[in-house]
Amino acid sequence: MEKVKIAILGFGNVGTGVWKILKENKKEIMKRSNYEIEVAKILVKDINKKRDIAISKEILTDNIDDIINDESIKIVVELIGGRGEAKQYMIRAMKAKKHIVTANKLVIANWSDELFKIAEEEKVLFYYEASVAGGIPIIREINESLTANRIQQIIGIINGTTNYILSKMTNDGIGFEEALKEAQEKGYAEADPTSDVDGYDAVYKLAIMASLSFGTKINHDAIYREGIRSISSLDIEYAKKFGYTIKLLAIAKEENSKLELRVHPTLIPSNHPMANVNDVFNAIMIKGNAVGELMLYGRGAGDLPTGSAVVGDIISILRNNVKPADISEVSEESNFKEIKKPEENEAEFYIRLNVKDRAGVLGDTAKIFGENNVSIISMTQDVSREDDVPLAFITHKSTEKNIRNSLEKIKSLENVNRVESIIRIESFN
Ligand code: NDP
Ligand code: HSE
Repeated sequence: MEKVKIAILGFGNVGTGVWKILKENKKEIMKRSNYEIEVAKILVKDINKKRDIAISKEILTDNIDDIINDESIKIVVELIGGRGEAKQYMIRAMKAKKHIVTANKLVIANWSDELFKIAEEEKVLFYYEASVAGGIPIIREINESLTANRIQQIIGIINGTTNYILSKMTNDGIGFEEALKEAQEKGYAEADPTSDVDGYDAVYKLAIMASLSFGTKINHDAIYREGIRSISSLDIEYAKKFGYTIKLLAIAKEENSKLELRVHPTLIPSNHPMANVNDVFNAIMIKGNAVGELMLYGRGAGDLPTGSAVVGDIISILRNNVKPADISEVSEESNFKEIKKPEENEAEFYIRLNVKDRAGVLGDTAKIFGENNVSIISMTQDVSREDDVPLAFITHKSTEKNIRNSLEKIKSLENVNRVESIIRIESFN
């Protein structure tokens, strides 16, 4: 059987996962790819670092030139993460006629045009399945299985770290800080958890999925983003009382050729399957105009699940040698679609105020909502305190503009201490 040499850039979580899969499933991979895959070089930052996997010093290198200049290496698997070096190394590898597999959503969401253009020019293949939702084969699903459809909607839980934190807050009754600490101890959240907790990771992933699904290049800066830092135990408790569970959702919808794109904490009905996606698991619901609704569920992170997507891409390159879907193809001027401004979006809302329990506070608040065309479905008030009382509402569908206008006025009422939370509701209609 013919041998093919590959190089892996990065031997951390995902890099070691890829190594383990190539070893453990060697026979199956040979059979399916028709090649014997040899990892010729692995790029790391610190060549002397103590590693859990015993690996020959000859394979490890801290010099990218050892890989770029080795003509026998045909595929480069980028798993170092980050932006600058990862992008530059991929460009250099393509210019040296090597195919690329990457799990780097940050680079794809920012520079897919440039990278795919170089891949085209150099006649090499560029695969990125693991960049969205780890082990869930969502890119292939959109690009291959669902190509007969016009995709109308994607709703996903696509960040494992935040889903772990919210699951712990919901199921174990702990606060955000404690849940974050647990996520860090378990190695899910980074020491600097900003990208996950503040929603950037989900925004990058949504930009990739939406670009491919709606046939238009989406700038991730245009996606509305809110993270989960402000979610309190009280919101979790009130959401439960109203029959909802709080999840960080990534939402993309197309209506009348306009796109709605947002990542934010969301109340979802507790009996919906998405409400039962717990811990680090991910799930993505897609609605196509032919297939209807379908849902993919699985591990969105971790060494082996992510490695599974990466090795799948390596095998695809060896097997098909066909060009995978390319975001740059959808980025021509004629394909641009308008993205709705956040204030134009409509949703039902959960709103929690902190008020003084005085006659008229509820009436005054309800009057302002009414004057701004915001209709209330239900409300609940905690009567155990007098001057510091949570008062929570669920509204009918309203525009964000009407909600904001109401709350501006409600804030200035004498007996309203604070507006504590405004969280959108997704009813999956
Ligand atoms: P890790 O931090 O665990 O590993 C990074 C690896 O890259 C380390 O081996 C490190 O070397 C090496 N490295 C980092 N910077 C450089 C550099 N400048 N030059 C050479 N080597 C470098 O990252 P992960 O494995 O978690 O993530 C890799 C990629 O996969 C990222 O793009 C991430 O977003 C993506 N991803 C990760 C998932 C996960 O579950 N972790 C899931 C889906 C995607 P050394 O070992 O010497 O420190
Ligand atoms: N940090 C990501 C998450 C994993 O928590 O889902 C990599 O995509």
